[in-house]
Amino acid sequence: MINYTLKQLYSFEAVVRTKSFTRASKELFVTQPAVYMQIQQLTKNIGADLINTKGKTVTPTYIGKMFYQTCIDVIDTLEKSKLDIDQTLDPEAGHLQIAVATTTNSFVSHILAKFKKKYPRMSFYLDVTNRESLLKKLDNNEADLIIMGEPPTDMPLITQPFMENPLIAIAHPEHPLLKNQKNTIKNLTNETLITREQGSGTRITIERIIGMRLNSDIEINSNEAIIQAVQAGLGIGFVSKHTVKLELENNVIKQLDIDKFPITRHWYVVHHSKNKLSPIAERFKKFIVENS
Ligand code: PGA
Repeated sequence: MINYTLKQLYSFEAVVRTKSFTRASKELFVTQPAVYMQIQQLTKNIGADLINTKGKTVTPTYIGKMFYQTCIDVIDTLEKSKLDIDQTLDPEAGHLQIAVATTTNSFVSHILAKFKKKYPRMSFYLDVTNRESLLKKLDNNEADLIIMGEPPTDMPLITQPFMENPLIAIAHPEHPLLKNQKNTIKNLTNETLITREQGSGTRITIERIIGMRLNSDIEINSNEAIIQAVQAGLGIGFVSKHTVKLELENNVIKQLDIDKFPITRHWYVVHHSKNKLSPIAERFKKFIVENS
C-alpha cells in the first residue's frame, strides 16, 4: 500500500513550484522545518531523492520531476472533487439529474423554469422517457428524482403524489362517436385507436381499464404526435388531459365521453429509499409539491 500523505504531496508540490522551502512554508501556513520534514518523509516513503538540495535553488531530481506530475494530477483531481462536492452540497446550486415520464413534458418544463429562476446557480439534466425506461433508471439508481405515474409497489421507493393526472380519450371534432351522449368500451371495438408505444404508462393504464390489449395499427411514441394524428382524423387517441388543454380550448379536438373515463391517476415524485437526496434535489422535490 502506498503510504504518502496528502500533507507530503502538497508540501512537495509547493516546494517544486515555488523553488523554495521558505516560500512553500509561507503558502502552506506552516514553518519551514515542518515542510522540510514532510519532504524527508516523502523521500523515505518513495525510496529515492526527490529534491536536489545542493546549489542555491531548489530543483527536483529526475525521479522528483516524474513524481511532481503525479502530484499535480492527484491534487487537481482532489480539488475538483472537493469543488463538485461543495457545489452539490450548496443548497442553492448543485446539479440535478431528473428523469420524467414523456407525458409530464407538458408541465415539467414550466416547473423547471420557475425553479431555475429561483436558484439560478443550479444546473440540471432532464431525461424524458417512458415508464419502462424510468423503471430501469430507478433500478439502476440513475437519477436523483423521477416523475412518473403510479410508481411500482415492489421496489424500495419514497413516493409523493403531487398532482392529478386525468387520462382522457380524444377525437376529431367531427368524429361520429361524439354524437352519443355516453359511449361504452364496446363502442371502441371497430374504431381506429392510436396508442402510445409498448412500455408507456399511459398505454398500460388504458389497457388495464378497457380490459384488453390495444392491438393498434397506429403506435406513436409522442403525445404531441398523437394529438396531431387525432386532429388529422386518423383515429381516437388516449392522452393525459394536461397535454391537450390548448387544443380542447380551441376546439381542434374533442374529449370523447366513454364509460370509465376520465381515468384519474396521480403524478408522483419518486426516489430510491436508500438515497439521501442532495440539498438541491430536496428543494426541487418540495418545490414540485408546492407549485404544481
Ligand atoms: P408514459 O407515462 O409517458 O410512459 O405514458 C405516463 C404515465 O405513467 O401516466
